[in-house]
Amino acid sequence: MKKNFFIVVALIAALSGILFGYDTGVISGAILFIKDEFALSPQLNGLVVSAVLFGALLGAIISGRLTDRFGRKNLLIVDAIIFIIGTLGSSLATHLSALIISRVVVGIAIGIASYIAPLYISEIAPAKYRGAMVSLNQLAITLGILLSYIVDTVFAESQAWRWMLGMGIAPAIFLLIGMIFLPYSPRWLMSRGREAEALQALKKINGQDNRACLEQLQLIKNSLQQQRGNWRTLFSAPICTTLFIAGGLAFLQQVTGINTIIYYAPTIFQMAGFHSATAAISTTMIVGVAFVLFTILALPLVDSLGRRFLLLTGLAAMCLSLGLLSWTFHLQHPGDALKQLTLISMLVFIAGFAISLGPIVWLMIAEIFPLKIRGLGASMATCINWSSNWLVAATFLSLISWIGASGAFFIYFALSIFAIVFVYLWVPETKGCTLEDIEANLYAGKPARRLGEKPTNPSPV
Ligand code: BGC
Repeated sequence: MKKNFFIVVALIAALSGILFGYDTGVISGAILFIKDEFALSPQLNGLVVSAVLFGALLGAIISGRLTDRFGRKNLLIVDAIIFIIGTLGSSLATHLSALIISRVVVGIAIGIASYIAPLYISEIAPAKYRGAMVSLNQLAITLGILLSYIVDTVFAESQAWRWMLGMGIAPAIFLLIGMIFLPYSPRWLMSRGREAEALQALKKINGQDNRACLEQLQLIKNSLQQQRGNWRTLFSAPICTTLFIAGGLAFLQQVTGINTIIYYAPTIFQMAGFHSATAAISTTMIVGVAFVLFTILALPLVDSLGRRFLLLTGLAAMCLSLGLLSWTFHLQHPGDALKQLTLISMLVFIAGFAISLGPIVWLMIAEIFPLKIRGLGASMATCINWSSNWLVAATFLSLISWIGASGAFFIYFALSIFAIVFVYLWVPETKGCTLEDIEANLYAGKPARRLGEKPTNPSPV
């Protein structure tokens, strides 16, 4: 196995994570100036911000069949071009409609990248490093968000929102160039009947051990003996089990409230008593840095401690902090105690998410579906993720004015408890297991929680 080669592959694919994080995060700063330039009403303001979420949902819906047909690599190349077009369009827009359309285009690119990059990495990674390599994508998302906060701060003085949006073009160009040189996923090549090329790709990735490559090829071939994948198969047994796990995790990743922090951290800090905008924004920067650091910590743990342990531990931390946030906002003691408790709770929440739902949800979406239907299944779970994201983003502020911050955080707290139950009962431990083993277990009729067990004759890693 050529370790350096894997790292280069994963880094390039993770550039799409940077784009995901950057393009979702950058609008929080840019909108302040866009609002003035286009004299936006609150409704239009909301439309500009949520255009990306709508686009992402669209991107996830339209790309599922395409990724199984044209391949992960080709779609990522096209996606980089869509990113470039959307970024240029939004940073040069002189009319509001052009800006909104371009932000939808950027959203489409994000929706496609959000699941195809993890899927591509999971299909080329060896089982024992798969968790860490796919989680690089999540690290890239958090870095992208942090980068967007920094760029926003740098250009805030000059009110240069076009530069804020436009800077996203750099990672898109790197992604485009990098992807051209990377191999196709051998698993996808096999699913298109391109056996000789699949063998070449396996040799390129795993080294020249012909026997091991042939064995792996045979396992991939076996997994393709199953019926052809279409929408109906996705909802029929046993594949609906994988949709249930991936879709459930995708939903829970959002409804436990991560993006209330990512999109509204300054607002929450202001409610807690950090009155000046500068104090609220710099405290937000602490959250951004902590997010990156905790995600780095999670990378090696995904393959050693395993997915279930991290999910359960991280969710417990998220429950604790959401309970604390709900309680502190309920007491409403003004002053330093409230400020400190809010900041500590948010950091615990971020730490919990960074080691659990952050990396592991995208990882599971990429590894749990059988090959024949992997693109379609992952795109379906991604649609669930983006619609839940939109639901939370659209309702958070109304929820606060309706039942207060304490009530809103209590709802996310209750949903996190439900997430613990969900993970405990249904999520399998897939650490160290090959994608073909997971698939074999599924077709052997094993229940959801046991899909990651080693079959009696495990496949070579
Ligand atoms: C989630 C996003 C979130 C991001 C934060 C991703 O895994 O899907 O909704 O904004 O993590 O880093």
